Amino acid sequence: APWRATVLTLYPEMFPGHLGLSLAGDALARGAWSLEARNIRDHGIGRHRAVDDTPAGGGAGMVLRCDVLAAAIDAAALPGDPRPRLLMSPRGRPLTQGRVRALAEGPGVIVVCGRFEGVDERVIAGRGLEEVSIGDYVLSGGEPAALVVLDACVRLLPGTMGKHASGVEESFEGGTLEYPHYTRPRAWEGREIPEVLTGGNHAAIARWRAAESDRITRERRPDLAGPGRIP
Ligand code: ADE
Repeated sequence: APWRATVLTLYPEMFPGHLGLSLAGDALARGAWSLEARNIRDHGIGRHRAVDDTPAGGGAGMVLRCDVLAAAIDAAALPGDPRPRLLMSPRGRPLTQGRVRALAEGPGVIVVCGRFEGVDERVIAGRGLEEVSIGDYVLSGGEPAALVVLDACVRLLPGTMGKHASGVEESFEGGTLEYPHYTRPRAWEGREIPEVLTGGNHAAIARWRAAESDRITRERRPDLAGPGRIP
């Protein structure tokens, strides 16, 4: 069965559009995965289909109602649906390539996009939502973060990586950042391709690339480079 993604959002129109031009869109067209964007407002309360209300205890902003979101989740995930339920939130555990790999190896995902100041805490535990952050910055809603999760997973699905047989050489899969890449022309605006790469000595090329990966990782991401790094 293809990998199945269900997104719960107040802006379902943000989904097929973005994917149309991407690798994820190609894979979608080829049936490698499926995407269903469902509108949380379909489960809103009353004539105005309200989805949010003012925060208990006071304060600015609005909170997504637990009953509304629970109804949206229950309509999207029939009993026994094995897919993990993610809630995109800046409070979540940071998304890692390891988690992406695990998600891509599973049956799919249910992704809830937060909006407003937050989501009523009770539905997080009540429906087993796992909060996931894509980084230490704040988006106006979880939708772009959900697209990040989908793109990162879909590129790992069998048969979606094109010429690139696997992602193992890329940044993070090996725990370091990628070495620099070059292609023709050999000289461009006074900048040349490093000589070692055009010399045909494959052992020397491998050594140069490993050293460059190491240097760039230490420079830009000392948190990823040992010593002092907890693996
Ligand atoms: N929603 C708002 N900001 C977010 C973030 N950094 N990651 C995931 N979801 C979010």
